[in-house]
Amino acid sequence: GGATAKDELGNDVSLAKFLENRNAGDRTLVQGLKGDPTYIVVENKEAIKDYGINAICTHLGCVVPWNVAENKFKCPCHGSQYDETGKVVRGPAPLSLALAHASSADDKIVLSP
Ligand code: FES
Repeated sequence: GGATAKDELGNDVSLAKFLENRNAGDRTLVQGLKGDPTYIVVENKEAIKDYGINAICTHLGCVVPWNVAENKFKCPCHGSQYDETGKVVRGPAPLSLALAHASSADDKIVLSP
C-alpha cells in the first residue's frame, strides 16, 4: 500500500499546491514512507516524476541535501555524492539512494515501495 506524502507540518501534500511556483527539475523534501524524508521531483508544471528519492544517505543515515549548482546530492557527513537520479557516484556510501514510486490520487501525492 501507499502512503500520502506529508509536509513538514504533517499535512497531506496536495499535488496542485506542490506544483505551484515550482519548475521542472526542482526537488522538494516531504515526509514519505515511514516518515523518511523523500524528494519529490517536478516533471513539469502539471506533473511530478513517477519516482521519489529517499534522502537518507546509505552510508550512516544523514539527510542528504540537493545541490542545485552541482546537480548532485552531496552528503554533509562524509562526502558521499549521488547524481540527480540518486545513483551513488562517490563513496563511502555503498548504495544508491532508495527510490519510491510516486503518483497522485485525489490531488494528493502518494508514495509506495
Ligand atoms: Fe553520508 Fe557518511 S552518512 S557519507
